[in-house]
Amino acid sequence: MIDGKTSVYGLIGNPVSHSFSPAMQTAAFQASGLNSVYLPFSVEANEIPQLLSAFDLLKIRGFNVTVPHKQTIIPYLDAIAPEALRLGSVNTVIKSKGKWKGYSTDGLGFINALHTDGVQVSKKKIVIYGAGGSCRAIAFSIADRGVSELHVINRTVSKSQDILNEIDLINREIITNTSYQEDDRFDILVNTTSVGMDSDECPVPDEMISRANYIIDIIYSPLETTLLKKAKKFNIPYQNGIEMLIAQGAASFEIWTDKKAPIDVMRDKLLRLISP
Ligand code: ATR
Repeated sequence: MIDGKTSVYGLIGNPVSHSFSPAMQTAAFQASGLNSVYLPFSVEANEIPQLLSAFDLLKIRGFNVTVPHKQTIIPYLDAIAPEALRLGSVNTVIKSKGKWKGYSTDGLGFINALHTDGVQVSKKKIVIYGAGGSCRAIAFSIADRGVSELHVINRTVSKSQDILNEIDLINREIITNTSYQEDDRFDILVNTTSVGMDSDECPVPDEMISRANYIIDIIYSPLETTLLKKAKKFNIPYQNGIEMLIAQGAASFEIWTDKKAPIDVMRDKLLRLISP
């Protein structure tokens, strides 16, 4: 498949060696009949200007940005899409009309992942655990879609309060809190902390889990965290982070190619890599 006309896309970050995106995106290009590959590039923050010049020279068409460069890349780009500008975070860049333009597909990835289970966020009561970059992207995207109550619970309360202050600026109708003290049920529980990734710890107490109508853990490795095992035990519908990872990547693919992403191919590839 690779020949003299193959075009190159990539991922920049540090580290990038663990990423599933090169395999997932290259499979998507192949399935769509596109003569393109996707490669990982590990760079330091101070190397970003040189990297962009190198990408210009090599005619790289587009790339993803991961930790720790999602914010640092912004001043070096020529244009930023409105949602990425507001979030202050870019995960997808395309060369368009000679200019590098940045987007963020993180929030849309979350919304589209929920849609695969027919779950909507509009007018819902949502509780998010964790207040890092993922929580911010998710909180902004659900605030835009008219969530009715948003509770962000985090070990460092000041970080959840900062996110909720920003949400208040987006939509003052949304009820926000850094805790959830009511006794009644709520619609969606989201885990955005890293707890459960390397251990069988669960970031959410049982009395909160049992009150959720739906649970999403954005961790995708392991496929079933302790939180999700508990969801199963309590008979609560749930999903892991796989669909969000696919949906973010699919949105990047669509920005670069203007074609519908082959989601099933991307999912197959990922699942084969994660649970061979
Ligand atoms: P991401 O960009 O994926 O959101 P992050 O910005 O590093 O990652 O955020 C990780 C989140 O997991 C944070 O909310 C962090 O809590 P703090 O803000 O208090 O640091 C949370 N987290 C990580 N380890 C944790 C632990 N052992 N217990 C509770 N929360 C934890």
